[in-house]
Amino acid sequence: MGIKILGMGCYLPEQTLTNDDFTRFVDTNDEWIRTRTGIVERRMAGWEPTWYMGSEAAKKAIAKAGISPEEVGLVIGCSVTSDFHTPSIASVIQYETGAVNAAAFDVNAACSGFVYALDTARRFLETDDSLKYVLVVAAEALSRFVDFADRSTCILFGDGAAAAVIEKSDKPFTSALCSDGSGARLLYARTVNIAEEVKLESDFDDGFPEKRLHKLYQDGKEVYKFATKALPKAFHLAADKAGIAPEDIDWFVPHQANVRIIETAAKNLGVPMDKFIVTLDHYGNTSSVSIPLALCESIEKGVIRRGQKLALIGFGAGLTYAGAIFEY
Ligand code: COA
Repeated sequence: MGIKILGMGCYLPEQTLTNDDFTRFVDTNDEWIRTRTGIVERRMAGWEPTWYMGSEAAKKAIAKAGISPEEVGLVIGCSVTSDFHTPSIASVIQYETGAVNAAAFDVNAACSGFVYALDTARRFLETDDSLKYVLVVAAEALSRFVDFADRSTCILFGDGAAAAVIEKSDKPFTSALCSDGSGARLLYARTVNIAEEVKLESDFDDGFPEKRLHKLYQDGKEVYKFATKALPKAFHLAADKAGIAPEDIDWFVPHQANVRIIETAAKNLGVPMDKFIVTLDHYGNTSSVSIPLALCESIEKGVIRRGQKLALIGFGAGLTYAGAIFEY
């Protein structure tokens, strides 16, 4: 059993931060950021809570799908930058959208989150006959977690939300969900800073390099190396299950972290770059939002059309990576 994306919606905060804006906080310049990452500008949440951005995207997705919120049976939220440790962002969005008959929970698989959530949605749809529609919502406010004193990370990230209403389909769907926890210390943000707040009275060292309170830490070089291998691997693991070759895919929708990572993945897959959707120039890395945002924008622009075969491939903190192949 496969899935069909019935409708999508996205929300982008109004505030835009250009590369030049960063020269006010850190020693950087537009040329370095463009050539090393491909990013030109990104959106920054101002007053908007993460749940608000997610709810707005979700309402648009429900409207696009042409269903009523009461028909949604499950809301799956994806966020690494939720406003709360608890409740789940999905519960808040369930209420805000009027999806009164839905169960709600979050999936945290970092930037691979949307692919993980899509696969989870499919499994629920397959095993629960009474479930008609699943609402998957990704929402992120990375700007509240990045360290604006760290020039190698703060320039990479952006905020926003994107959502999709999913239903069953008889078209094939294959996926692969993967994780390599040995890389957990390469990219993380603590919920509490042990060194500063808890002051453990022991010599225990958890191996996570310390960082300013609750801020994102990244070993950029190691994550880069991982990412260039993870994207092709995520595709092949999903594709091999159904005997699909790269040339069978109409559109690759990769996680939008760095255009050089995408170019290397395209080369390794033997696929021309014009088969890859790239939106990171305007939005930066929006973590779990990046894939559904790229998907939503490409659908709205008429680039991705019904009947085309898509490969969604993501990677992120964990280190996680995941691929899903299905027809739009
Ligand atoms: N502006 C100017 N110079 C910068 C800079 C910035 N914003 N950030 C780093 N630099 C400097 C470094 O300090 C270093 O200077 P040095 O040679 O004097 O020490 C130099 O640029 C090169 O740094 P390096 O880390 O080798 O750059 P890079 O080409 O590897 O690019 C990243 C850095 C972070 C862009 C790259 O490693 C990357 O994209 N990693 C993966 C990140 C990712 O995908 N994360 C998301 C996972 S979901």
